[in-house]
Amino acid sequence: MAANQVREHWGSRIGVILAVAGSAVGLGNFLRFPGNAAQNGGGAFMLPYFISLLVLGLPLCWAEWTMGRYAGTRGCNSAPAIYTMLWPNRLSKYFGSLAILIPLVIYMYYVLIEAWCLGYALNYLTGDLMLGSDADSYQAFFVSFVGAEADGALLAEGNRRWLLILFGVFVFNFALIYRGVNKGIETFCKVAMPVLIVLGLVVLVRVLTLGTPDPNHPERSVIGGLGYMWNPQAEKLWDFETWLAASGQIFFSLSVGFGIIVNYSSYLSREDDLALSGLTSSSMNEFFEVCLGGLITLPAAFIFLGAIDPEMVQSSFSLGFQTLPNVFAMMPAGRFFGFLWFFMLFVAAITSSVSMLQPVIAFLEEGFGLRRHASAAILGLLSALGCGFVLYFSENLVALDMLDFWVGSVLLFLLALIQAVLYGWAFGIERGDEELHRGAHLRVPRVVQYMLKYVVPVYLTVIFVGFCYFNVGDKARAISQKPVAMASIFFIAILLGFVMILVHIAGRRWEAEGRFDNIPD
Ligand code: ALA
Repeated sequence: MAANQVREHWGSRIGVILAVAGSAVGLGNFLRFPGNAAQNGGGAFMLPYFISLLVLGLPLCWAEWTMGRYAGTRGCNSAPAIYTMLWPNRLSKYFGSLAILIPLVIYMYYVLIEAWCLGYALNYLTGDLMLGSDADSYQAFFVSFVGAEADGALLAEGNRRWLLILFGVFVFNFALIYRGVNKGIETFCKVAMPVLIVLGLVVLVRVLTLGTPDPNHPERSVIGGLGYMWNPQAEKLWDFETWLAASGQIFFSLSVGFGIIVNYSSYLSREDDLALSGLTSSSMNEFFEVCLGGLITLPAAFIFLGAIDPEMVQSSFSLGFQTLPNVFAMMPAGRFFGFLWFFMLFVAAITSSVSMLQPVIAFLEEGFGLRRHASAAILGLLSALGCGFVLYFSENLVALDMLDFWVGSVLLFLLALIQAVLYGWAFGIERGDEELHRGAHLRVPRVVQYMLKYVVPVYLTVIFVGFCYFNVGDKARAISQKPVAMASIFFIAILLGFVMILVHIAGRRWEAEGRFDNIPD
């Protein structure tokens, strides 16, 4: 940090809880979760989902909150510095590269989907998305809207309006981040989160009061839809992939393993509560995910379209864009509710996308002593480059899918594992327990510490190995057949190399300053 820079901090306890919950609540809750549940046996998905939440998600959340505040009160805000503070070793900062790369790359495609949401909302306002009851027209609309027919399709003359929307969304994110943690992120989340709850509840009430709209299909009722969501298909419980999908969903949804929570909690003060705040923000996320995301998307689709064929759910994000417009077309006041739904997705996405920028900004400031405008400008250029890559290589959304798989799934597991080991074995659960409970408004059972040290790393390793075993072979074959997929892997690798070089240079500066020479207890 430059000597004349003011240290960032949160303004209030409710502000930080809403900011962390805002980071968690996003497209993962409303699009990815129902998509995953539909692909993995509906209710059968919920058992591994809740087990992953209790065994992995919540303990890791508390660990991230604890590590972040510990290092933050000792002057560190970026992951490479935080990890070095926890484990004073020359290598630890390089693990922090992942916590810079992950939010940066996820931002590059996430902001695009965020702009799709705003684009869809505006298309409901203008009526362009009321295309009748032919499911194929919504499919065609989506394909053309996201440029899935050919690479470079979005740069065609007729897409100026859409590019303008994307530009606006991009600039809005940077305007928030430029205003800082307290004035930008916290102020926005304090307004956005209540708005989200209201919008979500309005759409939920609409769906739950739909009754049985088609007399020819009496089984397609609200009750039938809820049964589809919650009744477990027992055979899916024995499928390893259901367990993988459930834990991947928990990480993505809670923003665990992103490097975001460690960064956010580094702006807390020494006596701020961690235990209750961590639990509250995670519970808020679950409310949005299960009670709103799950109860709206799947039951609504079931009521109008019947059971979703898992084969039809092409990617985790597609259910909301391809299926729901079809549903809104059949629903009374569907145009209004279509607008509300996509606008809600847009708001939810912004509170998450800004949180992906902050860890990178913090690193540029801390590692190179840059001022906020310089860090924001560099990050703007870097993320625009990546976003341009995904935007241009839009055919069948291959580039987006690759980045989401390798970074939004595989690297998330890896970083979560690294953080569990850092916490349990390098930092130590004794210190962890003491730090977690300083200023705490809740006593977290001691068993959570043992889970973090022993159960979480083993569980994660098993899942990670299984994940690679089940997915990596297929993906590797697909990559070798598609030049864009190959280019996406190169892109990630080059970016990782670049971030590691930056971390290396920052580390040399910190060494020269003697920053970690006498770490205070
Ligand atoms: N946690 C964020 C989401 O669920 C990234 O979309």
